[in-house]
Amino acid sequence: MSFTTTRQFPSARLRRMRRDNFSRRLMCENTLTPADLIWPVFVLEGQGQREAVPSMPGVERLSLDLLIEEAREAFELGIPALALFPVVGPDHKSEHAEEAYNASGLVQRSVRALKAAIPGLGIITDVALDPYTSHGQDGLLDENGYVQNDRTVETLLKQALSHAEAGADVVAPSDMMDGRIGAIRQVLEQEQLVNTRIMAYSAKYASRYYGPFRDAVGSSANLGRADKTTYQMDPANGDEALHEVALDLAEGADMVMIKPGMPYLDVVRRVKDELKVPTFAYQVSGEYAMHMAAFENGWLEADSVILESLMCFKRAGADGVLTYFAKRAARLLSH
Ligand code: PBG
Repeated sequence: MSFTTTRQFPSARLRRMRRDNFSRRLMCENTLTPADLIWPVFVLEGQGQREAVPSMPGVERLSLDLLIEEAREAFELGIPALALFPVVGPDHKSEHAEEAYNASGLVQRSVRALKAAIPGLGIITDVALDPYTSHGQDGLLDENGYVQNDRTVETLLKQALSHAEAGADVVAPSDMMDGRIGAIRQVLEQEQLVNTRIMAYSAKYASRYYGPFRDAVGSSANLGRADKTTYQMDPANGDEALHEVALDLAEGADMVMIKPGMPYLDVVRRVKDELKVPTFAYQVSGEYAMHMAAFENGWLEADSVILESLMCFKRAGADGVLTYFAKRAARLLSH
């Protein structure tokens, strides 16, 4: 009995194209370059200050002088932009977050200095009150402790304007108040700051993956056991993210963001497919911490896992990724 006459051969052999490097390269669908990366950084008051963040191994809070050096390196590695987050001491936190719009506050001074030192590096500022509130919430509270929407937006307007006036290229409202994008756009137009871009944290979930970030900026102790579920989104929801994104675009956002990143790549894909606008995702502090824990234990191989995790954002449709791995990834990509 002959096997060859009865044998069914596969009509497609997908392994044929995977056999050699040349054909693997030809059929590669997505690319990752330093131009896809945005680097989130934490800025401190003072000079020559460098503080480790224990829950984010390898991430440091830096005073402005050291940050400028690090930012220059990032720029030279081809990273287009940096997202700035302030570490604000207790003396600058208050019930109504007045420090948020101090024209000579830490963020405003940092923006001016970074733009003067490295004009080609895009500077993105976080428009939200949580670093500045004594209670750690992103907005102003009423007598029952509820975060008030419209009063918060009034303060965000002053904050966004102070960032734009300092020279921020992009303001990034991250607090999920209703109507903030439209209100900020109106004020920027009125003040003839027509080229200030708005990156809207459109679909920001009430996520427990933000814990290490709150340690880094020192808001976790103030927030205590409270959560942000009355303004950030429920992780169970996907359609609602499309609703949020559509509203922010109608109100004048130039770019939208989904956050967290890796557990939410389905949302990234849906947003990109439906709206076809510049779409970003944030690989947040908890995602960074999980990776670092595995790397430090020798459970995962760092360099290749970092690049794989970032490539997956591109495959999901993201135009770029905010990641604490930005510099390390850019270095890996440059040789
Ligand atoms: C605050 C803000 C948060 C993050 C970015 N901006 C924390 C929060 O909403 O509590 C989280 C970033 C991260 O976890 O890496 N408006």
